[in-house]
Amino acid sequence: MEQGRGQWSSRTGFILAAAGSAIGLGNLWKFPYITWHNNGGAFVLVYLVCIVAVGLPIMMTEVLIGRRAQRSAVGAMRAAAGPLWSWVGGLGVATGFILLGYYTVVAGWTFRYIFKTLQWSTGGYTPGTSSGEAFSQFVSTGSIQVLLAGAFMGLTVAVNYAGVSKGIERAARVLMPALLAILGLMLVTSLTMKGSGEALRFIFTPDFSELPARGILEALGHSFFTLSLGMGAMITYGSYMSRKQSVVKASVAIVVLDTVIAIVATIIMFSVIFSQAGLRESISGSTAGMLFITLPELFYTAVPLGTILAPLFYVLVAFAALTSTISILEVIIAYFIDEKNWSRHKASLVCGSACFALTVLCALSLGAWGQLSSFEIFAGKQGLFANLDHLVANWMLPVGGFFITMVAGWIMTREATKKELVDETTPRWFHFGVWRIFIRFVAPGAVAAIIIAVLRGADFS
Ligand code: TRP
Repeated sequence: MEQGRGQWSSRTGFILAAAGSAIGLGNLWKFPYITWHNNGGAFVLVYLVCIVAVGLPIMMTEVLIGRRAQRSAVGAMRAAAGPLWSWVGGLGVATGFILLGYYTVVAGWTFRYIFKTLQWSTGGYTPGTSSGEAFSQFVSTGSIQVLLAGAFMGLTVAVNYAGVSKGIERAARVLMPALLAILGLMLVTSLTMKGSGEALRFIFTPDFSELPARGILEALGHSFFTLSLGMGAMITYGSYMSRKQSVVKASVAIVVLDTVIAIVATIIMFSVIFSQAGLRESISGSTAGMLFITLPELFYTAVPLGTILAPLFYVLVAFAALTSTISILEVIIAYFIDEKNWSRHKASLVCGSACFALTVLCALSLGAWGQLSSFEIFAGKQGLFANLDHLVANWMLPVGGFFITMVAGWIMTREATKKELVDETTPRWFHFGVWRIFIRFVAPGAVAAIIIAVLRGADFS
């Protein structure tokens, strides 16, 4: 039975797949943008503190809950804390469904930009082509949006369909090294640009008078999103992990990889942006702006070897997004396999299609379909896409994360968690007692602070 639900074939296999889940649009698309918005240095420092104090302990917790039960999120929560708590896993499955619904839309854009940059690199680029207007027109063309998102969903389903080690792990083994190589190449190039000194100063010199108050909570909220925490993705991946592997070491590796990539992506983007006089002021006011409007233009006007790097860069974004969509879909699929006895093939196809139905609606909510694009549930959020993103990032992930820490810190016995974290594989620096303090007090306290802040009107999406 255990063999039947699949297992990672090696330790690196698990680490690459889990790091692939964590490293995604959150690192390349959201993090540089919120760093910009919160004025750099001090925000980055606060973010690093959140990653270490909250993200890392919860990462260990999700992985341990999954590995202990060898079950999907719902079954694992039941095994950890009894049937009364299985709804926390159910909330995770529901969150995954919504998250995949809109994440796939942005992921699909990468295909268009790979195609476009190949065209520009071979046929020539006229400055001004990648404008805000051109972008709005692109996102509001329904047929193209549905087509791109559909292609991305199809690719995701194909990987999950092939299985844990033969699909997910194999994809991560190819895509992650490629991603690291492309990013390394871009880092070296960007450091030769004249804006790089200013970029490094912006990112690494903290000035707390520049940090807006909401930045602290934004950093905390983002640490959940970027590490794929709060909806059982790491519980699910942990459930395919071998008992011979150290939960502590693997969690540290995943968190370090995710953090390094986020910082490197930010160094690259700001080095490019700061190299162009006047651009600092004119950065468009949206996340989409930096990655899909400003950067394409800069590749062709400012970056050395831009004609080669531009298509490679969007390949990188596509790879990062794909290893993340795979992990979100896997949370849903694993639930149906473990709890409803579906075959993997049936689960992949049915869940993929169901998510795609939501994706179509999200894809049409960026201007193509008037009513879907304009309604407002959360203040200031227009259309289905924006409202779902707000719901997931501000509500569902923090609430899920809160109850996961509650279960691990207060419901599960000390012995049950200790058995997973402490054995002969555990590194010497790890102190179980410290972890337990973080998981009982620090992490839930911080998460409760996010939830209270959200209730009082903050927004981290
Ligand atoms: N961490 C991914 C990113 O940074 C997104 C993601 C994948 C995710 N799986 C998740 C977020 C599960 C929350 C929960 O883009």
